[in-house]
Amino acid sequence: MSAQILDGKAIALALRESIRQTVEQKVAEGQRPPGLAVIMVGEDPASAVYVRNKKLACEKAGFLDVSEVLAEDTTQEALLSRIDELNARDDVHGIIVQLPVPDHIDPETIIERIAPHKDVDGFHPYNMGRLATRMPVLAPCTPHGVMTMLEKTGLPLRGLNAVIVGASNIVGVPMALELLNARATVTVCHSATKDLEQKVRDAELVVVGVGRPNMIPGHWIKSGAIVIDVGINRLDDGSLCGDVEFETAKANASWITPVPGGVGPMTIATLLQNTLKAAYGD
Ligand code: GUN
Repeated sequence: MSAQILDGKAIALALRESIRQTVEQKVAEGQRPPGLAVIMVGEDPASAVYVRNKKLACEKAGFLDVSEVLAEDTTQEALLSRIDELNARDDVHGIIVQLPVPDHIDPETIIERIAPHKDVDGFHPYNMGRLATRMPVLAPCTPHGVMTMLEKTGLPLRGLNAVIVGASNIVGVPMALELLNARATVTVCHSATKDLEQKVRDAELVVVGVGRPNMIPGHWIKSGAIVIDVGINRLDDGSLCGDVEFETAKANASWITPVPGGVGPMTIATLLQNTLKAAYGD
């Protein structure tokens, strides 16, 4: 078997075009465009690339972009005050602070300061709690984008044995909640997991979000499994690769996401989708 490619880039572009059309229509009706603030503290090069892509997508969709880069030595108090100002603005519907933040800033304190109805990253405990209680409002972008991609395969998720590798607040944990809500049987693996290989070998759906190049050998992938690779790793030669060995995994899987062009573009499209929702409701 050679897997079909789950083309996140194409799915994301179609989603972004439909969002752009909705915004165009709302603005023609006299409503405000959705406003998104992406705040970056410092100049982390990887974050700078993500933030630039988010800004570009925001502008192309017709959103109001109020993104800003704050100096590396910005104090936590100053960042909290900036969030308070953005929380109070009627023309800003979504606020995200790009992670990681410098060590002198506590990310949890920052996330909790964003008004939950403007938390388009879906990281606030209110939004995580809504997802955990099967009443999602603004769900974290990467896992929700993965759900949109999985829908495109047309495969039923109900009863599927899903294995998630990585238990982060951004990917693994909300991914587990999304799949549980879709009635999959979910196993979450992390650095203390025993016999990761056997867990992956048994999986009908594998989602990997660790950030370690090629950590899952392709021959671990069960024949016919769906493989979702959330990792984006830059190698010494400048090329990008995922957390799963692509070519060997592709030979076993039924569907697989490429890196780049898989999950990455879906995260940004879902961020726009969340901001649209924050601006206009469902
Ligand atoms: N850093 C890595 N992924 C993300 C994300 O989805 N949102 C934010 N704010 N920071 C990140």
